[in-house]
Amino acid sequence: LLSLPPVELGFKYFEMFPQDKEPLWTNPCEYYRHKDLWPVNKTCDGLPDFIVVGPQKTGTTALYSFLSQHPSILSNKPSPQTYEEIQFFNSHNYFRGLDWYLDFFPQREKPNRTLLFEKSANYFDSEVVPKRIATLLPRVKIIVLLMNPAKRALSWFHHMRYHNDPTALNSTFREVVTASGDAPSKLKNLRNRCLQPGLYSQHLVRWLDYFPSKQIHIVHSDELKNDPVQVMDSLQKFLNVQPHRNYAQHLRYDPKKGFYCSVMSDGQTKCLGQSKGHKYPAMDAESERYLRLYYRKHNINLSKLLASFDSELPEWLKYELKQAD
Ligand code: A3P
Repeated sequence: LLSLPPVELGFKYFEMFPQDKEPLWTNPCEYYRHKDLWPVNKTCDGLPDFIVVGPQKTGTTALYSFLSQHPSILSNKPSPQTYEEIQFFNSHNYFRGLDWYLDFFPQREKPNRTLLFEKSANYFDSEVVPKRIATLLPRVKIIVLLMNPAKRALSWFHHMRYHNDPTALNSTFREVVTASGDAPSKLKNLRNRCLQPGLYSQHLVRWLDYFPSKQIHIVHSDELKNDPVQVMDSLQKFLNVQPHRNYAQHLRYDPKKGFYCSVMSDGQTKCLGQSKGHKYPAMDAESERYLRLYYRKHNINLSKLLASFDSELPEWLKYELKQAD
């Protein structure tokens, strides 16, 4: 039997099968032969039961914080680079492998009761993420948050300014969203990153290619903002988590912050940091008109798609559909 030395053989293999260069991690516990090879010190219950996938600026941090309060729900440990988000499935971190991902999850306190989760807000609109998640975690539950995509774009633009992005600081919102093909590449790039996550129907269809709709739960961001207790009630039912937590006792509206915040054991409220829910000017009329047209077709498609989920049309979408008539 003739063969090359191992490293050369590896190079030869990828020369012959370039499509295999990117790994696609499967769950070693899903197949008995792989499970037999899985070292004894590794468990099969260290991966998440549900994932909050975003998109960015839809209230993902508030939802993450409310979920983390639940006595039977444990979030991932923070990442030194990306804080509460692991950002495994959408980035170079994926190539660090399964052990790297597993290290972020704590041990379940009560193995049959505790649920593990992570939230990475960039997962929602990534081309590769649904396939990667479905391959590793075919039964994981997916949580998506939706709000008016034009308002999401404005919030994202101000988030970029808050974080001193030079292009955002040197441009108005209108200049960013209306940037044309011959605009400087940095402006075009900012525009794409600002608007693209809001093409909800396009992204949801991709998730539906890999997950049945009953495995996906939609949270409407306006409801999360105005009535988080109700949102947490239906989310707990979807997750089938015990015991049922009465969030009315643990969340309180803070008039100064203008949002619901967590009630601490001393009765004080603890709100999210300054970068969440800060004040900025309302959208100018021209950007509003432009974005209404830009998202029109996608919003119509979204209204049809939402019928396949157990989800009512949110008020913003009913309003946008009326404008489109
Ligand atoms: P703004 O800062 O534009 O108001 P994300 O955490 O996904 O980045 O989303 C941030 C948005 O969450 C904020 O956007 C804010 O409107 C919204 N939000 C919803 N509930 C909130 C809460 N309880 N506290 C703070 N922000 C909340």
